[in-house]
Amino acid sequence: MKNITPRERFYGGSIAILVCMVALYIVSGIYGEEGLVGALFSHLHTVSLVGAIIIFVIITGTFAVQNKFYKGFRYGRIYATVMSKLEQQLLDAGYYQHDKAGRIRLPKITLTLSQDLTSGCIRIENCIKLDRSLEDLDLSAGIGKYVVERSYGAADRNQVVYEIYDFRTANSQIFNSFREYAEYCKSDEPYRLKIDARTELALQGMLIVGQTGTGKTYSLYGLILQMLLKPVTYNLYFADPKGSSLYALGQILGIKTNAVSVDDIIVALRAFHQKMMERRHKLQRYLADQIDADYRTFQMEPFVFVFDEFASFMGVVKTLDKGTRDQINVYLRDIVLLGRQLGFFLVVCMQKSDAELIPTALRDNLPIKIVLGMAEPTTYQTTYGAGFDPPKRIFDIGEGLIHAPGFGSKPKICAFPTLRFDIAQAAKKLRKE
Ligand SMILES: Nc1ncnc2c1ncn2[C@@H]1O[C@H](COP(=O)(O)OP(=O)(O)O)[C@@H](O)[C@H]1O
Ligand SMILES: [Mg+2]
Repeated sequence: MKNITPRERFYGGSIAILVCMVALYIVSGIYGEEGLVGALFSHLHTVSLVGAIIIFVIITGTFAVQNKFYKGFRYGRIYATVMSKLEQQLLDAGYYQHDKAGRIRLPKITLTLSQDLTSGCIRIENCIKLDRSLEDLDLSAGIGKYVVERSYGAADRNQVVYEIYDFRTANSQIFNSFREYAEYCKSDEPYRLKIDARTELALQGMLIVGQTGTGKTYSLYGLILQMLLKPVTYNLYFADPKGSSLYALGQILGIKTNAVSVDDIIVALRAFHQKMMERRHKLQRYLADQIDADYRTFQMEPFVFVFDEFASFMGVVKTLDKGTRDQINVYLRDIVLLGRQLGFFLVVCMQKSDAELIPTALRDNLPIKIVLGMAEPTTYQTTYGAGFDPPKRIFDIGEGLIHAPGFGSKPKICAFPTLRFDIAQAAKKLRKE
């Protein structure tokens, strides 16, 4: 016999009783009225009607409360579908026990969905008696329009947490005009950046990796516009060794340090480093009595060095004399190590993150790590750690994985928005005279 979940048992049983009641109501209505038997039938007629109504109310009431229809009809409908699919999946995978009466008992499942229904969180009670690990279970196949993004054991080890999201809607942010984008970027947080609809992070060093055409430079456009729309001035330095789109944007924006040649990039790095050291000197006085403060405490302006095609710069650096090479490494290392507190950040884009292309110390100290599009296993492993399993899904242009401090061990899925407006035109408006 096919196993059924406790939920199916409850509703199956209740509906069977309801059907019996209705049948009794109909049958008792046919015979009726005359004599003792007739009176009995007419009595039964009333009782079965009342019984049917009570059971109907119990079934619908339980269903409504259990599936949280009080949070809205769509919420309830999706909740019911996902829950029943989940239970069926656990059952099929053998994640259940029998109670004393021999009935099936499933682990306790809690499901919470975001109000806009694009994401949610499933928590499943861990059961030590089950020898297989719940964390290995791939739920994505069985939860309708949602896919599991990350799963991990809860801090107390009693539950396994699955973060889910709707892969059709969560990633399709499109802005049709610069005004719309500016409205979206508007926030009272001068030192935070929006990555996509679900992820907003404190301004930090950033590494964006991905093959050509995966949307690295495009993602920079969005971030740069966002920085320039902030109420506090972002001091931007650009380096684009290939002299392509980032350089062009820098020209339109009137960015003072918009370097292309290796020599100019080295000069830019030195100037950026110099500014940082000046701030360090200044901040040291302030910090004497506020140890845990940083540039934000004093509302200082952030400095961001945006570096596209980093590997192509490092390729040339390799051929330079040792003195210059060391100097460059010191600049880069200082920026990632000291910059965090001082408000100086490096945003690096490159096609691969292998150790021969980017110094490990630099890579490891860029807190936000993004891999766009489909990358080779070595790219995922050098970015997220040796034990990282490449994701089991296909990423479109502008989509990929992101990891940042506070995310736990696993990266999340991210998708940079599509900007359906003339970026050059928007940049002209933001140009600083
Ligand atoms: N988030 C996105 N939404 C829509 N189109 C995008 C997105 N990211 C990139 N593209 C498209 O893909 C093209 C290549 O992106 P680009 O940023 O130049 O890639 P990369 O710098 O990784 O080589 C862009 O010109 C743009 O048309
Ligand atoms: Mg590019």
